[in-house]
Amino acid sequence: MGMVITIDGPAASGKSSVSRELARRLGWQWVSTGAFYRGLAFAALQLHIDLDDVKALAELTHNPVWSVRMDDARTRVFFQDQDVTDLIAHEDVGNFASKVSHYPDVRKALLEAQRNCSRGPQGLVAEGRDCGTVVFPQAQAKVYLTASSEHRAARRAAELGLDQGDMVKAQQQRDHQDSTRKVAPMAVPEDALVVDTTTMNLEQVVDKVVEFVKGKI
Ligand code: DC
Repeated sequence: MGMVITIDGPAASGKSSVSRELARRLGWQWVSTGAFYRGLAFAALQLHIDLDDVKALAELTHNPVWSVRMDDARTRVFFQDQDVTDLIAHEDVGNFASKVSHYPDVRKALLEAQRNCSRGPQGLVAEGRDCGTVVFPQAQAKVYLTASSEHRAARRAAELGLDQGDMVKAQQQRDHQDSTRKVAPMAVPEDALVVDTTTMNLEQVVDKVVEFVKGKI
């Protein structure tokens, strides 16, 4: 496996923007591992697979009807050869993704595909909930981003053109699900740099992360 930097944290903490910009500055690849859970949930809904049917979900992880592709601008998801990246961005797909992510068999089945993202010639910036703790425990540098729940909701509501109050509730529910699940709960990795991004802009966060990773890669 090549060099890896992991960026974990709760919903809308800035993981995607920060990891994409960090990868751009380093000339590395990046992947949003949430796309695997969102893609799986989306495919299950399209195929009328019950989100509690663990066996069918685990089988669907290997079904070529859907796939994840790394891209400099976004981690893309394809379903039946259609680019569904915009569709999986919706908060309800995020919530379904959080639900399917609870199942150990589903997580295990998606692990290899996520790890394969680091096999390229460049380094990889990987973001998610368990990238530093489970997917890439050997990563050269680990970062954990956080921000106030109001700030995160405002950020995502503005992105999606939705009501901020509804978004606070939806994110709190999702964060609760993600941090209390039995397998690979969202957690701060040991030795991670923790950054509260509430009062920082993107450039300030990336500068801080770059300074931290510089000595490690
Ligand atoms: O980062 P995101 O909002 O795209 O993630 C969607 C859901 O997928 C998240 O609520 C929980 C799950 N997820 C996970 O369990 N582990 C990851 N490494 C990434 C996402």
